[in-house]
Amino acid sequence: MDKQTARQMVHSAMLAPSSHNSQPWRFRLQDHSIELLADSSRALPVNDPNDRELHISCGCALMNMRLAAAKAQLGIEVQLLPDADNPELLARVVECPQAAEQPALAQLADLIPNRHTVRSEYEAGFDDGDLISELRQWTKLESVQLAAVSSEAQRSRIADLIARGDKALWADRAWRRELARWMLPANRGEGLAVSALWSPFIRAMIRWFNLGTMMARKNTRLAEKAPLLLVLSSCGDGPRQWLETGQALQRVLLGCCQRGYQGSFLNQPIQVSRLRTRLAKVTGLAHPQVLLRVGRPIEQAVASARRPLSGMLDPV
Ligand SMILES: Cc1cc2nc3c(=O)[nH]c(=O)nc-3n(C[C@H](O)[C@H](O)[C@H](O)COP(=O)(O)O)c2cc1C
Repeated sequence: MDKQTARQMVHSAMLAPSSHNSQPWRFRLQDHSIELLADSSRALPVNDPNDRELHISCGCALMNMRLAAAKAQLGIEVQLLPDADNPELLARVVECPQAAEQPALAQLADLIPNRHTVRSEYEAGFDDGDLISELRQWTKLESVQLAAVSSEAQRSRIADLIARGDKALWADRAWRRELARWMLPANRGEGLAVSALWSPFIRAMIRWFNLGTMMARKNTRLAEKAPLLLVLSSCGDGPRQWLETGQALQRVLLGCCQRGYQGSFLNQPIQVSRLRTRLAKVTGLAHPQVLLRVGRPIEQAVASARRPLSGMLDPV
């Protein structure tokens, strides 16, 4: 694999979304492959005790590598969890000249820098039914099920679960402390950006005050007004399925981006296990992994910070 293609693949990978913008990945460049590894020093033990979201984030990065390879017309084979003795080695992307070209993936590669998590309100209305069936076909290719919330009754039950999730998470001091640690000035290149001037104040506020009721109210409103609510679900609940979910998620987000939509996450009911069971019941899905709000942003989307690439490369 030539150096330029390898670098482009890794550069694309690092633009993937990740929980708390933790960017929990490392890359090892070999002559004919790139290895994607989990960076456990960037795990979120309270928010994500089983590393489920860490794997989903790395799955998103893996999809970006696949897209960049498709754009460079590089045939590849992806081996998920190739070494049972090394669970940190999440995937190996191996050059494979006989692999078929992937024009559908190549088309999405250019959108990678345009995708952002947009947490503000979206324009009202969604009438793009074709998009949902297209996204469903794509996620199926990754062994992931996609459901669109289809009735007002279902939406309001989900909004209620989101509110309960917010209240449960914010009531947990350890969860708030961990969140506060990741609220960082943008120039740090990681975490959820806050202004450098205000960051000590914001961090202290999050550490000390339970804002659950306020966040529940805000997120209930966002869920109720969301033009489209999507749930991604997998057929099992382990590292392989989480990596598959991440790949499907990134493809969904870029497919939305292609039509002028952006997404943001309302994962609270998935992060609290008793609520996750309820969400599974409400949606009829086996293992809900991600709950997304999708729509056309009213405000201009802003790119979030990233660490320098050099810090993500492992020595061979
Ligand atoms: C698995 C996963 C879970 C996430 N959970 C949340 C969440 O609960 N709330 C939220 O606002 N953003 C969530 N995000 C979005 C990240 O915060 C976002 O990707 C990160 O800050 C980088 O910003 P970007 O997506 O604009 O590049 C999640 C992202 C991933 C991949």
